[in-house]
Amino acid sequence: MPYMSVMPTLLVGANVNGKPNYMTAAWATVACMAPPMVCVAINKARYTARGIEENKTFSLNVPSAKHVVETDHCGLVSGAHEDKSKVFKTFFGSLPTAPLAEECPVNIECRLFTTVDCGSHMLYIGEVVEVHVDRKCVTDGKPDLAKIDPIVYAQMTYWQVGKQAGKAFAVGKEFGK
Ligand SMILES: Cc1cc2nc3c(=O)[nH]c(=O)nc-3n(C[C@H](O)[C@H](O)[C@H](O)COP(=O)(O)O)c2cc1C
Repeated sequence: MPYMSVMPTLLVGANVNGKPNYMTAAWATVACMAPPMVCVAINKARYTARGIEENKTFSLNVPSAKHVVETDHCGLVSGAHEDKSKVFKTFFGSLPTAPLAEECPVNIECRLFTTVDCGSHMLYIGEVVEVHVDRKCVTDGKPDLAKIDPIVYAQMTYWQVGKQAGKAFAVGKEFGK
């Protein structure tokens, strides 16, 4: 297995056969700053992959810890066998085929930029079309991590974000002093 100490826990939204489907994903990250892009590695067998291939759009949704049960359910069950369209309330933003999960405080709409066939998994790189953040999770105009309360994935377990270790791009200035 590839090792990556901690990962995000996200829900990939895709329309498959005209219906929203949500799939749990941890193998995801930012891919580019300008233009803004994100990527997610999806096994070729997933129902979600069909929807992304079909519509060339998808969404990444950031669930809060309070939705850990629904989130894990979307990683245990395939849309090929069970309808997951009602696990979350769906809304649409700019892209009519990128379903967004209303209960998730952050929703990222993506247009497929390119696909890399890595073997078992396809790496889907998406250009970010729009990011929606729940007003209740915004402080001073910025997404507030404490309010979003995202789920961290590591060691087959879901975690909540813990204490701070230092300010990034700042504590390093102490090096050698
Ligand atoms: C915590 C967690 C993380 C997961 N991460 C991924 C992932 O990054 N890529 C992937 O292909 N499957 C991942 N899975 C497995 C899929 O979510 C699972 O196979 C799901 O049932 C697929 O749904 P679908 O067939 O409706 O697309 C993960 C599952 C869990 C529980």
